[in-house]
Amino acid sequence: MKDQTEDLDQSRAYRQLHETLGKDKIQAVVAGFYDLIKGHPTLGPYFSEVKDWDELKARIGHFWWIDLGGERYREDIYNPHAVHRYLNIPPDLIDDWLVLFSGHLYEHLPKDHADSWLARATKMAEWIRTDLQQHQEK
Ligand code: HEM
Repeated sequence: MKDQTEDLDQSRAYRQLHETLGKDKIQAVVAGFYDLIKGHPTLGPYFSEVKDWDELKARIGHFWWIDLGGERYREDIYNPHAVHRYLNIPPDLIDDWLVLFSGHLYEHLPKDHADSWLARATKMAEWIRTDLQQHQEK
């Protein structure tokens, strides 16, 4: 059995990624992901209202930068639960998002870095999915 310290180290590993990967790489990975999402058959249509893709990439790139342990450098306030609820996204689409995000991470990052980022993204995606499911049932 793993001891608790090791579990804690594992679960916080993603918080080091801002340092390991750096701002430019995180921003580039996020930007590339939204280039993919734009043309995706099931996810793409939800982005049809986006006017300024560079701003979207910068905003979500910053979201990840902070989440991966970096110091904030923009004034943004995020509320992903409310945003996705408002968009009325079917909870099952989270699977498509995770497949796309995962493939993209492993294509652009060494395996251990992709593992850490994906583990964190999966947690967040499941929180969003639960929130969408609860909202649907109401
Ligand atoms: C079912 C799949 C998903 C779809 C279709 C989707 C779609 C969208 C759309 C259309 C926006 C608004 C873009 C805009 O500002 O105009 C958005 C915002 C955002 N999404 Fe998603 N999303 C999905 C899943 C996820 C997941 C799993 C995460 C995180 C792990 C995520 C993170 C974010 C963040 C951080 C924002 C910005 C929230 C804010 O501005 O407060 N999304 N998403």
